[in-house]
Amino acid sequence: MTELSPVTQTQAQKAPKAPTLPDAQTVTSVKHYTDRLFAFRVTRPASLRFRSGEFVMLGLMQTDEKTGKEKPLLRAYSIASPSWDEELEFYSIKVQDGPLTSRLQHIEPGDQIILRPKPVGTLVHDALLPGKRLWFFATGTGIAPFASLLRDPQTYEDYEEIILTHTCREVGELDYGRELIENIRSDEMLAELIGEGFHEKLKYYPTTTREESAKMGRITDLLRAGDVYGDLGIEPIRPETDRAMICGNLAFNLELKAMLEEMGLEEGANSDPKQYVVEKAFLD
Ligand SMILES: Cc1cc2nc3c(=O)[nH]c(=O)nc-3n(C[C@H](O)[C@H](O)[C@H](O)COP(=O)(O)OP(=O)(O)OC[C@H]3O[C@@H](n4cnc5c(N)ncnc54)[C@H](O)[C@@H]3O)c2cc1C
Ligand SMILES: NC(=O)c1ccc[n+]([C@@H]2O[C@H](COP(=O)([O-])OP(=O)(O)OC[C@H]3O[C@@H](n4cnc5c(N)ncnc54)[C@H](OP(=O)(O)O)[C@@H]3O)[C@@H](O)[C@H]2O)c1
Repeated sequence: MTELSPVTQTQAQKAPKAPTLPDAQTVTSVKHYTDRLFAFRVTRPASLRFRSGEFVMLGLMQTDEKTGKEKPLLRAYSIASPSWDEELEFYSIKVQDGPLTSRLQHIEPGDQIILRPKPVGTLVHDALLPGKRLWFFATGTGIAPFASLLRDPQTYEDYEEIILTHTCREVGELDYGRELIENIRSDEMLAELIGEGFHEKLKYYPTTTREESAKMGRITDLLRAGDVYGDLGIEPIRPETDRAMICGNLAFNLELKAMLEEMGLEEGANSDPKQYVVEKAFLD
């Protein structure tokens, strides 16, 4: 399989250091997309098994103000790489006053991060009943778990059609997703599973809300107005055929969840698979 990572710009120039901290992994590449978004890849713990779509806790060491001792500062991060990848990829926000990302945004190849190897999450194939079409609905960094699932062959083996919608405020915020789709379409093995032209299984629907682009509007409004179905030339969502995964900001998650429920889809879980699943892209 060819390299699927969009993270190629600052490939490791320094040789990766051997991890020394507990649960430490070494950064192998970093790519900045905008002043608020970047992606990075790290070494993968030999023992780490995960299901595409799951998240882990990762972070950096920090000094405890009271005790003066070093301790880890960890946050939840969706694994953006697929389960077969030999490295792990993450797609991150940069919050300028954020305790973690104000520092994490400065990592470079050769640096170490802390990664707790205990993957969990609901955006997994196991939480959905079999269906014909699979929708991935994302806003902002909520695309990260889908970057994993979209590079997993099981996604194309289990479904006849896969639709990724990604809504961001600005055009530059769509770049990671656009690159991801280009890389998937040009990957030999995945391209064969996806097919070409009219028969292509993968449909990509990027939209912006605050900067002019080819398609503007919130995905919720575009679904209600019927634009999504018309633009893609597909039938409306039905509980008999459609399965969905949602990952974005809280208001988006709640609005879309209510819309899907109204269409007759029910929320599933690992222990009780149904028609759709949802996870927050961050805590508001
Ligand atoms: C299940 C889960 C999975 C997550 N996966 C990712 C991921 O793959 N990539 C990622 O960048 N973040 C992800 N997050 C958010 C992440 O855990 C941190 O909040 C983020 O890294 C910022 O950390 P911080 O310490 O700098 O700021 P925090 O104190 O954690 O956050 C400060 C504020 O920044 C905003 N914010 C935080 N994260 C985001 C975001 N991703 N997009 C937009 N605004 C945000 C919120 O308003 C938040 O209140 C996830 C969160 C959850 C709950
Ligand atoms: N993106 C930026 O340029 C920027 C800059 C500085 C600070 N921030 C702050 O960072 C935080 C996260 O910003 P973000 O842009 O990454 O993510 P966000 O605010 O979660 O927005 C991402 C996308 O989701 C859309 N959206 C919001 N609510 C929705 C709903 N109910 N239904 C459907 N779509 C919905 C937004 O559309 P709308 O545009 O219509 O809301 C936007 O296109 C926010 O607190 C923000 O104030 C963002």
